[in-house]
Amino acid sequence: MSGTPRLPMVAGNWKMNTTVAEGVALAAAVLERCSAETAVDVVVLPPFVHLQPVREVLAGSRVRLGAQDVFWEDSGAYTGEVSAAMLADLCDLVLVGHSERRHLLGETDAETGRKLAAAVRHGLVGIVAVGETESEHDAGDTFAVVDRQLDAVLAAQSTALTADGWVIAYEPVWAIGTGRTATPEQAQEVCAHIRVHVERRLGAAPRVLYGGSVSAANAAELFACPDIDGGLVGGASLKPDVFATIVAAAGTR
Ligand code: PGA
Repeated sequence: MSGTPRLPMVAGNWKMNTTVAEGVALAAAVLERCSAETAVDVVVLPPFVHLQPVREVLAGSRVRLGAQDVFWEDSGAYTGEVSAAMLADLCDLVLVGHSERRHLLGETDAETGRKLAAAVRHGLVGIVAVGETESEHDAGDTFAVVDRQLDAVLAAQSTALTADGWVIAYEPVWAIGTGRTATPEQAQEVCAHIRVHVERRLGAAPRVLYGGSVSAANAAELFACPDIDGGLVGGASLKPDVFATIVAAAGTR
């Protein structure tokens, strides 16, 4: 670990869940339970179509809003896509490179890099998800995989990335939605590796989150690790009480 203390971040990735009305209610519940938490950067990542109404719910609060994906071009004939120029009016952050996009939709390392570049170009904080599959994990390739994913992202940047201009989320694919969390030791080891790897290349690393079956039961142990700066939370972010417990665990880090 190096540098000054980093404000922990807990980001709730709602994925493709909730109707707009349910999402507005969930945002209000998160706001009620988490807005007093000043020691944590609390973020919700609803589906695109929820951004405007959820933004109205969160207005004036400390809970920050992000999107789950972005396209790399600013405008044009890209049916169904949403650009960073559009998102910049609605939210502060955007997730890129989530494993579901990489593995279900074929998104490449280079495309993830272009998405981060677009986000940064429009003043959005990009949360870049990286992580190895189970077979890569079992083959001992974890460091090589996350290095390759990060190097591709860094190679796609035309402007300098500042430490607070982006966030990395280490999410082992085998731990996402499976209930099988990496042990704190495993997660710490990879997050520390990521930090050193990025510091070597850029001089400064952003916050590094852990994601993959983060729960009320394991959050405190994970967030106590020196190189884990919070969490990217999927399933548990849909349950406001559980999400608030996870946020509180980050606040005692
Ligand atoms: P999970 O998802 O917490 O449900 O495992 C994490 C993620 O995919 O970001």
